Amino acid sequence: MKKTWWKEAVAYQIYPRSFCDSDGDGIGDLQGIISKLDYIQNLGVDVIWLSPIYKSPNDDNGYDVSDYQAIMDEFGTMADFDQLLDQVHDRGMKLIMDLIVNHTSDEHPWFLQSRSSKNNPYRDWYYWRPGKSGREPNNWESIFRGSAWQYDAKTDEYYLHLFSKKQPDLNWENPDVRNAIYEMMRWWLDKGVDGFRLDAINFLSKTPGLPDARSNGHAPYVCASEHYAFGPRLFEFLKEMQDKVLRHYDTFTVGEAAFATTQNALDLVNEGTGYLNLIFHFEHVHLDTESSERITWIPRRLEIPELKQVLTTWQHNLEGVAWNAQFFGNHDLPRAVSKYGNDKDYRVESAKLLGTVLYTIGGTPFIYQGDEIGMTNVAFPTINDYRDIATLNAFDEYVAVEGKSPTEVMPLVHQYSRDNARTPMQWDDSPNAGFTIGEPWLKVNPNYKDVNVASDQLRQDSVLNFYKELAKVRKSNPVLVYGRFEEVGDVPDDVIAYKRILGNSELLVLANFSDYTVALRPDLFNGYTMEALLLSNYLDNSQGQLDRQTLRPYEGCVYLKETAA
Ligand code: GLC
Repeated sequence: MKKTWWKEAVAYQIYPRSFCDSDGDGIGDLQGIISKLDYIQNLGVDVIWLSPIYKSPNDDNGYDVSDYQAIMDEFGTMADFDQLLDQVHDRGMKLIMDLIVNHTSDEHPWFLQSRSSKNNPYRDWYYWRPGKSGREPNNWESIFRGSAWQYDAKTDEYYLHLFSKKQPDLNWENPDVRNAIYEMMRWWLDKGVDGFRLDAINFLSKTPGLPDARSNGHAPYVCASEHYAFGPRLFEFLKEMQDKVLRHYDTFTVGEAAFATTQNALDLVNEGTGYLNLIFHFEHVHLDTESSERITWIPRRLEIPELKQVLTTWQHNLEGVAWNAQFFGNHDLPRAVSKYGNDKDYRVESAKLLGTVLYTIGGTPFIYQGDEIGMTNVAFPTINDYRDIATLNAFDEYVAVEGKSPTEVMPLVHQYSRDNARTPMQWDDSPNAGFTIGEPWLKVNPNYKDVNVASDQLRQDSVLNFYKELAKVRKSNPVLVYGRFEEVGDVPDDVIAYKRILGNSELLVLANFSDYTVALRPDLFNGYTMEALLLSNYLDNSQGQLDRQTLRPYEGCVYLKETAA
């Protein structure tokens, strides 16, 4: 496939609110980020994705934008942003912004106009509908629970919000909306930002007429993704965005695409005819719930063969056609090591194992802040310790609507809350993990004394140093980037094993995602010698798998050999 910088890049996601607080107000900020740029660069990162920093009332921590061209007060000023961008560029890195254009805040001036009267010129910038027999216009459920419609007494109509009621959906059918968004995008690109992570981008086009979704028989509202994910005009809108904005700049774009499968995603990212460089799909993310709806909390054991299947399918189906984005964590998910690994007995090993797969399977790796030191889920005692709107809404629904007791619901909060990923970054073992000298907006994970950047920097065998090594290995071995993917079969169920092949280079990756030692078939190692061992997440590998032909709990190793031409 064509070589491009972003295929070779390592990306790092910053959730600014929780990254580093420079002024003691308990909230991370832009100067805090600037102070950590050397740290990020030393990790081998090439591109930073910044979660939203725009002006916002923070109903959904900045994913509810009230001014796209101003910086959130708590985060700093536009001058701080310009400084950040310069300093990122000075270090040879790039910066992509989070672009949230499926919806705005209800405090955005466009919405304030829109809600003011039925004849306001902005009325049609959002979806307004009269009620139906005293109820909502249709049965769609908000991704944050409850109806996706909010009644507004001022004009006696309802507006659509796929997320919180403070996040009204923009009406992309209206060309004025689209042009205003394009203008704003050009403004940021003219400033020098290098691209966008496009939030909920496949939700822009809704089924005309906004019909009821197929009812599931018992709930009043139903997930109506068939009426908004990959809607009929999505590609037309994205083509227009490409023509009017993206192709006039050298941009890097990653779309968030919930409900994407390798079938419906290919058109979006096809290298010749698609609209975006990469997408984040969620097929591996929902393996620990009974439903693919994003915040449905019905626990299910995460089966490694299923994870293997999803990863493999995406490798095969995109190969030669499109490029994968790899991630195990982000600001909406529980911590990767708690979900896919073992954050107790094998925290270090399993965090490194996830890094191994992230960097060696085909695609551009995205690290979520803190995963590079193996930060874990948190279990705060009561719901009052939580801040995330999706968590609070879900808790309320279980307790108030379904009548469950809080003690029954808290374990679900502990397992699934988005706040697991949003606890402050753990920099050192000083109070509040060195994140702030004030009172943090969300409590720090109590394990910060053991899990923090400073101690990882000191320890040779830390998760952090392993991530640095991964970046080096990836940069010096093109087979990790451009190698063809080949699944290795006939391995134990909990082992993910594959080869990457490029020219004469052959990489073998073996990853045991279980708490026990597994035996491997001996012929797996044909042609590999101990010298071929490129990476291992166990310190003592003097004997290696070659002799033992086993993998210890969460052991992962990467071999590289040159085959005869
Ligand atoms: C995306 C974001 C998430 C946000 C939602 C609404 O899924 O990642 O954090 O709540 O969009 O903007």
